Amino acid sequence: MPSALEAALPGLIAHRDAISGQTMRQMFADDAGRFAAFQVGLGDMLLDYSKNRITAETMAALVALAEEAGVAARRDAMFAGEAINITEKRAVLHTALRRRAGDTVLVDDRNVMPDVSDVLARMEAFVDAVRDGGIVGSAGHKFTDVVNIGIGGSDLGPYMVTLALAPFAGGGPRMHYVSNVDGAHIADTLKHLDPRKTLFIVASKTFTTTETMTNAQTARDWISGALGEAAVGAHFCAVSTALDRVSEFGIGLDRVFGFWDWVGGRYSVWGAIGLPVAIAVGFENFEALLDGAAEMDRHFVEAPLGENMPVILALLGIWYRNVWGFPTHAVLPYDQRLSRFPAYLQQLDMESNGKGVTLDGTPVATSTGPIVWGEPGTNGQHAFYQLIHQGTDVIPADFLLAAVPHEELSDHHAKLVANCFAQTEALMKGKTLAEATAELEAAKLPAEEIAALAPHKVFPGNRPTNTILYRTLDPATLGRLIALYEHKVFVQGVIWGINSFDQWGVELGKQLASALLPAVAGAREPGADQDASTRGLVAAFHALRG
Ligand code: F6P
Repeated sequence: MPSALEAALPGLIAHRDAISGQTMRQMFADDAGRFAAFQVGLGDMLLDYSKNRITAETMAALVALAEEAGVAARRDAMFAGEAINITEKRAVLHTALRRRAGDTVLVDDRNVMPDVSDVLARMEAFVDAVRDGGIVGSAGHKFTDVVNIGIGGSDLGPYMVTLALAPFAGGGPRMHYVSNVDGAHIADTLKHLDPRKTLFIVASKTFTTTETMTNAQTARDWISGALGEAAVGAHFCAVSTALDRVSEFGIGLDRVFGFWDWVGGRYSVWGAIGLPVAIAVGFENFEALLDGAAEMDRHFVEAPLGENMPVILALLGIWYRNVWGFPTHAVLPYDQRLSRFPAYLQQLDMESNGKGVTLDGTPVATSTGPIVWGEPGTNGQHAFYQLIHQGTDVIPADFLLAAVPHEELSDHHAKLVANCFAQTEALMKGKTLAEATAELEAAKLPAEEIAALAPHKVFPGNRPTNTILYRTLDPATLGRLIALYEHKVFVQGVIWGINSFDQWGVELGKQLASALLPAVAGAREPGADQDASTRGLVAAFHALRG
C-alpha cells in the first residue's frame, strides 16, 4: 500500500506546478497579511516562515499529509513510551528526561521518573561539589579543567550546549571536549592542562566505542603517569548505560551517572550525558535547559498541527525535499555561540533520517533526509552564500537570531541583525536583469559593458528561508530550540515511514576498521578478502612510514 506521502505526491506536485509561476516577491506584494499568516510563536520565540514557496493551500495540503501519515498518533506513542524504535525494540523517551519528578512515564509498565530524578539528584550533588571545590583532585586541588571524552551523541550535544551557554559559566571550570581517535585531539588538549587539577568524564552510552575507549585509556595513563595509579579514581567519572563495563575500566560506581536504552545517543544531552554542561553552567541553568525543552514538548503535543512549530518546519522540509527535489538544507545561526549547532544537527537529522528502508524493511519509495549543513552568519556570507544566492541548486535555509545579545558592544548586534534580515530578504527578492541593468546604467557604465556584466549580477531570488527569532540565547531558549529540531526530525521520519531512532549505517565501517586494524598495525598482511585498493593503500601507508 502506498504511504500517505506517496499518495499525496501527485497532488502536491500538481500544486507546485500551479504556483511555480508565482514568485514570493509577488506573493508579498499581493498580500499585506503574508507575514502575519505564516508565523507561529512560542513564548518569546518566533518562527517566521512567510519567505517560503507556499500559499495557504500549500500549508493546508501539507497539514493534511501530516494527518494522513498519522503524525499525531506516532507522537503520542513516542511520549507514551511505546517501543517505536522497532529494530532495537526500544522506547524513545528522551522527553522523559525533561519531565518533572512527580510525573509518570511508563516503560514496560514501570514508572521511570524516579530513576530519572535519582540520577539528576546525584548529578546535582556532584556538579555543585566540583564547582565549589567539595570534590577535588587526588592532591587536594580544586578542578580548574574538565575534559569530556566521548563522540557522536556523547560529544556533540554537550559540546554545542557548553559553547552556546558560555555566558552562564559563572566561574565554573574550563571545559574541553575530546572526541577524535586522532591522537592530535587529546594531545593538543592535555598539553595545556595540569593533571592535578583535571577531571575527566568518560561519556559513552555503550562504553565500547573505540574512539572513546582509546582516548580514555590515554587519559588514564596521563593521570597515573603524573600522579600515580592510586590517583586515577579521583580524576575520573563516567556516564553510561553499561555500568558493568564502567566498573571494569576502574571507575567507582559512586562516580558513574547512568541513563537508559530508551535514550538514543543523539538525544541524550538531557540526562547524564549533559553532566559536562551542568558542570560548565551550574545545575540551575541545566534545569532551565530541560524546562525549555519541556515547553517545546508541550507545544508539540498540544498545538494543532497547522500551528505547531516542529510540524511546520518538518512539513516545509518535506515540501522541498520530496516535492521540489532540493537535496540539502542549511542551518545558519546568526549567533556565534551556536557555532556547533549545525554539526549537532547533522547527527540529529542525518543519523536519524538518513535511512533507505521503511519500518517494514522495504525500500522507501521517496527521498528521505536531506544533507544538513551550515555555519554561523555572518561568516558564511563571506564563504558559501555565493552559491546559495546564485548557484544552480536551491538551498532552503533556517536563519537563527537573538534579539538581545550577551554583549552590547557598540553596534555589533545591529549589524549582525541587519545582515541576517538582509540575507533572507535578498534570497527571497533576488534581482532581475532589468534591476541589474538599471544599477549599472546609474553607475554610467558603457552600454556594451552593461550588457556583458548585467547577467552576472542577476539573482534568481525566490529562495526559501525560515527565520527563528528569540529574545536571547539563554538555557531555556536553547532547550526549546534543540527540542524544536528533535521533533521536526521525528515528524519527518513518520512521514517517510522510517525508523528515526536506529543507526545501523554506522556499523559496517566500524566492523571493517576492526578487521583492518591488525594489518594497519603491521601485525599481519591485509587479507585476500580486502579489495586491491584497500590492500594497496595499506602497503603504501607502510612504505611511507619506512
Ligand atoms: O557510531 C555512531 C554512534 O553509535 C552514535 O549513534 C553515538 O552517539 C556515538 O556512536 C557514540 O556512542 P557511545 O555513546 O555508545 O560511545
